[in-house]
Amino acid sequence: MSVPNKDTVIAVIGSGAMGSGIAQVAAAAGHEVLLFDNNEEALERAMDKLRKIMDRQAEKGRMSRTDADALLGRIKPSRQFEAIAAAGLVIEAIIEDLEAKKNLLSHIEIMVDEECIIGTNTSSLSIASICGACSRPERVLGIHFFNPAPLMPLVEIIPAVQTSGDTLVETRNMIDSWGKTTVTAKDTPGFIVNRVARPFYGEALRIYEEGIADIPTIDWAVKEIGGFRMGPFELMDYIGNDINYKVTETVFEAFYYDPRYRPAFTQKRMTEAGWLGRKSGRGYYNYAEGAKNPEPTKDDVLGKKIVNRLLVMLINEAADALYLNISTRDGIELAMTKGVNYPKGLLQWADELGVENVLKEIEALQHMYGEDRYRPSVLLRNMVRDKTCFYPEKIMEN
Ligand SMILES: NC(=O)c1ccc[n+]([C@@H]2O[C@H](COP(=O)([O-])OP(=O)(O)OC[C@H]3O[C@@H](n4cnc5c(N)ncnc54)[C@H](O)[C@@H]3O)[C@@H](O)[C@H]2O)c1
Repeated sequence: MSVPNKDTVIAVIGSGAMGSGIAQVAAAAGHEVLLFDNNEEALERAMDKLRKIMDRQAEKGRMSRTDADALLGRIKPSRQFEAIAAAGLVIEAIIEDLEAKKNLLSHIEIMVDEECIIGTNTSSLSIASICGACSRPERVLGIHFFNPAPLMPLVEIIPAVQTSGDTLVETRNMIDSWGKTTVTAKDTPGFIVNRVARPFYGEALRIYEEGIADIPTIDWAVKEIGGFRMGPFELMDYIGNDINYKVTETVFEAFYYDPRYRPAFTQKRMTEAGWLGRKSGRGYYNYAEGAKNPEPTKDDVLGKKIVNRLLVMLINEAADALYLNISTRDGIELAMTKGVNYPKGLLQWADELGVENVLKEIEALQHMYGEDRYRPSVLLRNMVRDKTCFYPEKIMEN
């Protein structure tokens, strides 16, 4: 692939939740898309789903019937794997299994030409190990979309140590040309979003486990006082406790069991019980028709305490990601606002609260619990020592 243009054929392998969404995004940008799945029924389901989405777009007047039909016409369900030979960019979105992905990439490599870029949509696996399956790993990298891909603007682009600079630039140009916001992330567990967001779930679970507040109260505080679109428990029910638990467990293991990412028994038990959330009809809330869920205790003092604790833990994680060069300052802000809809960037939030106050709160937690989980990022300490903030230019403006 050279300069991105609409003539580049895109192949998407795996037509599940992510693959079908990515196919829709690429087709909306004018590309011909080859959608492949090794399960014929899954491919049919994906095409049905895309047909329904396009029908709805046309019915609601968001698109003309002609444009909706044309977009759908550009997505070609492909039964022959060999068809991907025409692609300039291949994105794999198959099951999250390292061996399956490595095996697939080694096959893709044989089919496509030398110029073709190969992206993996993995959310948690090492890009370096996936690249390792290829004899030309320099044209392989992570292209991490968020769910649902047509609606979420963020795409994390993750070069492995083996990925060439040209591959990174060309891929970013291509995905930017699809109207997405790309952010480059280091090939480390959870990349940006799935790393920085861990305390949103983990600390909420801890607050609940300690009996500081019940589930509806924590959700109420985070939404009403914190300004987040969803509370952590609502969000875990939406994502699915099995999926969210698995991501936490994977990140925890990948960080050599750093206590900061330790999963919670509460969520493990929910998963074991099959209380997965919306998809199973029951999670932290009961989704059965007519079910009554407990009301929150709308106590402002308690609510602020909950939000503050969650927020300083999130800021600490964002600061540490910056300190360790996982991404740039603006990259981290974009990732959290465009990838998981946070009401504002965490680093800007730190400036508003005062970096010194943030550090004091984390140190108080560390002192109280004596746990490494609450260790402050060295970046926060350095900033307080040097009396700096994350966005000095914004302070200068005011
Ligand atoms: N679901 C999310 O929220 C989300 C978000 C970002 C990234 N991801 C990542 O995207 C990838 C796909 O996730 P998903 O939620 O779409 O999964 P999914 O289970 O909905 O779909 C996976 C599809 O891949 C197909 N498949 C499996 N092995 C295959 C093979 N060898 N060749 C061709 N097709 C094969 C399956 O038949 C299935 O249709 C995973 O790596 C996941 O971690 C998921």
